[in-house]
Amino acid sequence: MIKQNIKLNDGNSIPNIGLGVFKMTNEEAEAATYAAISAGYRHIDTAAIYQNEEGTGRGIARAIKEGLVTREDLFVTTKLWNNQQHEAAVALDQSLQRLGLDYVDLYLIHWPFAAQGQYLQAWKDLIALKEAGKTKSIGVSNFYPEVLDEIIAATGVVPVVNQIELHPGLPQTELRAYHEQKQIVTESWSPLGQGQMLDNTVITDLCTKYGVTAAQVIVRWHLQHGLVVIPKSVNAARISSNAYVDGFALTDAEMEAIDEIAGGRVGPDPQAWPTLED
Ligand code: A2P
Repeated sequence: MIKQNIKLNDGNSIPNIGLGVFKMTNEEAEAATYAAISAGYRHIDTAAIYQNEEGTGRGIARAIKEGLVTREDLFVTTKLWNNQQHEAAVALDQSLQRLGLDYVDLYLIHWPFAAQGQYLQAWKDLIALKEAGKTKSIGVSNFYPEVLDEIIAATGVVPVVNQIELHPGLPQTELRAYHEQKQIVTESWSPLGQGQMLDNTVITDLCTKYGVTAAQVIVRWHLQHGLVVIPKSVNAARISSNAYVDGFALTDAEMEAIDEIAGGRVGPDPQAWPTLED
């Protein structure tokens, strides 16, 4: 398993593979979190809107109780939902209570929701929450250069990560280059394109060549690009195999071939969604 830690711009670091629990029920999130930690994962990514922070927290608590890990070994992320951008401190306290934790390692603004006009105030509130020790690091998700430039100019604080939709069908080359200039780590959500990339022939040809699964090829592609990747699976065997990708390496030509897979977004465009009507 590759469990490299990537340095963040605030001095902390983030494990480059994590378990994403998007779309899981509390029961699934509990089982998947426990399975992931048992398999060697140290990074779990949830969000208030997933409505599974309780289950995720129970999986963490079980792993700690059984002595698999300590709290300090783990990197736990959660996210501020759009309807609480005006009360980030309240929202984080509620998330911590649901998770059963005293702090998270990373707290993200989930979407800029520019139409609502609250993301800058939310960012200022996250800065205070980091100072208060409720979260070790702060970042954003689904932000784009215009809104990133604004929050950085207004506060002087650069998000440690921007977690964005990123997979072979949407390699986000320009945004990654922007992040690199600003020392923002790129995290990939829906890294497998919500599973839609798994039967692409560029990928399946590489499975045959290396004797690995399609998910392993794609996870490897993210890691070789220096990205943080959080594949989602409810299946313990897949959770484990998704993270064991150190037995092979993609060539430069194979990386480029994957970069060129046509696809597009599986989620909304953050510059257009949500609107005030949503
Ligand atoms: P499942 O949870 O049943 O394993 P993404 O991370 O891009 O959102 O993709 C998640 C989707 O990919 C889920 O439908 C998940 O299904 C599926 N998936 C994850 N890992 C694998 C795997 N190793 N083989 C097949 N499907 C996978």
